Amino acid sequence: MKIYLAPMEGITTYIYRNAYQKYYGGIDIYYTPFVANRKLKSRELADVLPDNNKVLSIVPQILTNQTDVFLEITSQLYDMGYNEVNLNLGCPSGTVVAKHRGAGFLNDQRELEKFLDIIYEKSPLPISIKTRLGIDSLYEWEDLLVMYKKFPIKELIVHARTLNQGYNGTPSLDAFHMAQDILSCPLCYNGDIIDITSYKKLIAICPDTKAVMLGRGAIANPMLPQILIADNLLHDNNNTNTNLTAKTTGSDTFISFHDELLERYREYMSGDQPVLYKMKELWTFWSQNMNIDKKALKKIKKAQSLNVYQHIVNELILSNS
Ligand SMILES: Cc1cc2nc3c(=O)[nH]c(=O)nc-3n(C[C@H](O)[C@H](O)[C@H](O)COP(=O)(O)O)c2cc1C
Repeated sequence: MKIYLAPMEGITTYIYRNAYQKYYGGIDIYYTPFVANRKLKSRELADVLPDNNKVLSIVPQILTNQTDVFLEITSQLYDMGYNEVNLNLGCPSGTVVAKHRGAGFLNDQRELEKFLDIIYEKSPLPISIKTRLGIDSLYEWEDLLVMYKKFPIKELIVHARTLNQGYNGTPSLDAFHMAQDILSCPLCYNGDIIDITSYKKLIAICPDTKAVMLGRGAIANPMLPQILIADNLLHDNNNTNTNLTAKTTGSDTFISFHDELLERYREYMSGDQPVLYKMKELWTFWSQNMNIDKKALKKIKKAQSLNVYQHIVNELILSNS
């Protein structure tokens, strides 16, 4: 089973990916959050620069509905030495959808097919696609699959929800199974794999699955890839290592990971506030997996300076170790 880390804007930055690889790993491919500008903005450029991604296997993601923009960005990525790009057909954000980009592009299959015709003909790099099932209903999915079948898709990553489900509705494993029946390109499942139970459910319904992409589950519990790998080994080779459980805030690995993120963001950003914003955003995920006091989380959220933040986190870590 291959394991990918999902692109998550603002979360899986190059700083996050490097720290994650150093302290946890278990990821076969990291997807960058989307880049969208013909002339990459400095944040977009920093995120895809090979120098910032040295030890990782990376696929950069592009969000656009304009063939010339897609091809210009792809050609820059080709020059940087990348060997694949990913097209975002899944972003549900209102502003993106209003411009018929991301999942909004699924609303106009004729236009989308014309777009794919051109980019697959002209792109210097193989193109994988990350898609949702459609806008509103599973009827659209079958039509989309028939269309996808026409293109040499390097890999189709299926976030098994419609646009209207946002991030909360239940993903459809049956829809992923349907893709396995209809398409012959490599496929990757994405959506709500958060633990062994959800992973096993996927494998029970879609036993031919060869790749999963982990999003919020792996952010909340950075041990998740290791846990899934250990479970696979256990079943494949009678491996007896059952000792991999979710680590808590007090674990040495988590502390090192946390401190590295904090340090790197301090170097990269100016002033306390943007760094605090980043760390607080991460705590909304980490707190879901860790047995931490609600009051402590509130205190973290209220911290107005990095000194105060660090003090609260140190206390929290001490009380959990
Ligand atoms: C904060 C946030 C940012 C995201 N940014 C992107 C993005 O840049 N590109 C993309 O394809 N998906 C993006 N996603 C969607 C995730 O990659 C993933 O498809 C989604 O979270 C479902 O997987 P999960 O249930 O494992 O989290 C984002 C999701 C979240 C919550």
